[in-house]
Amino acid sequence: MRGAKILGTGRALPPHVVTNAYLTTLMDTTEEWIVQRTGIRERRFVDPGTGASDLGVTAARLAIERAGLTPKDIQFLVFATLSPDMFFPGCGVLVQEKMGMDTIGALDVRTQCTGFLYGLSVAEAYVKAGFYDYVLVIGAEVQSTGMDLSTAGRDVSVIFGDGGGAAVVGPSDPGRGILSSHLHSEGKYARELMAEAPASIEHPRISKEMIDAGRHYGTMNGRYVFTHAVRRFPEVIREALEANGMTLSDLSIVIPHQANLRITQAVAKALEVQPEKVFSNIEKYGNTTAASIPIALDECVEEGRIREGDIVCLAAFGSGFTWASTLIRW
Ligand code: COA
Repeated sequence: MRGAKILGTGRALPPHVVTNAYLTTLMDTTEEWIVQRTGIRERRFVDPGTGASDLGVTAARLAIERAGLTPKDIQFLVFATLSPDMFFPGCGVLVQEKMGMDTIGALDVRTQCTGFLYGLSVAEAYVKAGFYDYVLVIGAEVQSTGMDLSTAGRDVSVIFGDGGGAAVVGPSDPGRGILSSHLHSEGKYARELMAEAPASIEHPRISKEMIDAGRHYGTMNGRYVFTHAVRRFPEVIREALEANGMTLSDLSIVIPHQANLRITQAVAKALEVQPEKVFSNIEKYGNTTAASIPIALDECVEEGRIREGDIVCLAAFGSGFTWASTLIRW
């Protein structure tokens, strides 16, 4: 079977920078609390009228260009987001239309923070199997329109930001590129990190009462999330290495989902790898959920942090709970 590799990456960050100092004007919080607990100094928010599909398109254009391709070459696309432009249809078809692509298949993935890695596994499998030659994977989020920016929502809303990232996957020699994907879920924790509404088990799916109760905002059991994340990240990274007959010393860099700086630091400690081997850019963008890994990957490529032949591990944990890893020989 042939291999599958990432041919190009791209990212899109809205120009509007939202500092911690600005958040202190909206809610009862402090710069110190946010930096100490999360490592975040600023994040980006979109201007009204920009959807996740728009951020996805901008990132995708760059990824396709860097792959040396045009949108017409893409044969299948996957869009991962928890913040689609509308309830249905998903963002995949909007990207197909906005980029003037042929009537290719467009799949939407709903696994939140692990969405990009779940999407990448689909691209990996299709390309390796020879189903398609060029698959586009996008992770993009507009979190800012779904957060309670008052004191009542401060534990969640200081963490998240908007952004998009993309990668094009294409054929490679066997043993080069994406080596394996490992995907997990544990739905008994679904309610520990969720946004309940609009909800199809309610009629209507969204009502004034639901909005008054804040049920359309994301809620998080922060301690629970933290505890599970620091266990699952190292576990799924080790799983990827073991499946490929490698050890931690083979790793050139780990690019974790940018959940929270303290989680990233705890992962580096648990793995006993040098902290600089675990990439972090959360201080600039906050947690951009499905977008955080492709944004980070694109920055690593741009900064020359990843070179040909490097062993790169992408890893994510988040709402669901879901967790995943992708091991790559770059
Ligand atoms: N500003 C100031 N105070 C805040 C605050 C904010 N933005 N958010 C919460 N607080 C307050 C709480 O109300 C609480 O006050 P109290 O002691 O008077 O009740 C206090 O800070 C401590 O809250 P607590 O929840 O115990 O803090 P914590 O040390 O557990 O940190 C998180 C909270 C959310 C930072 C932490 O649990 C965490 O990092 N969880 C993981 C979150 C994450 O990564 N999510 C993304 C997953 S993909």
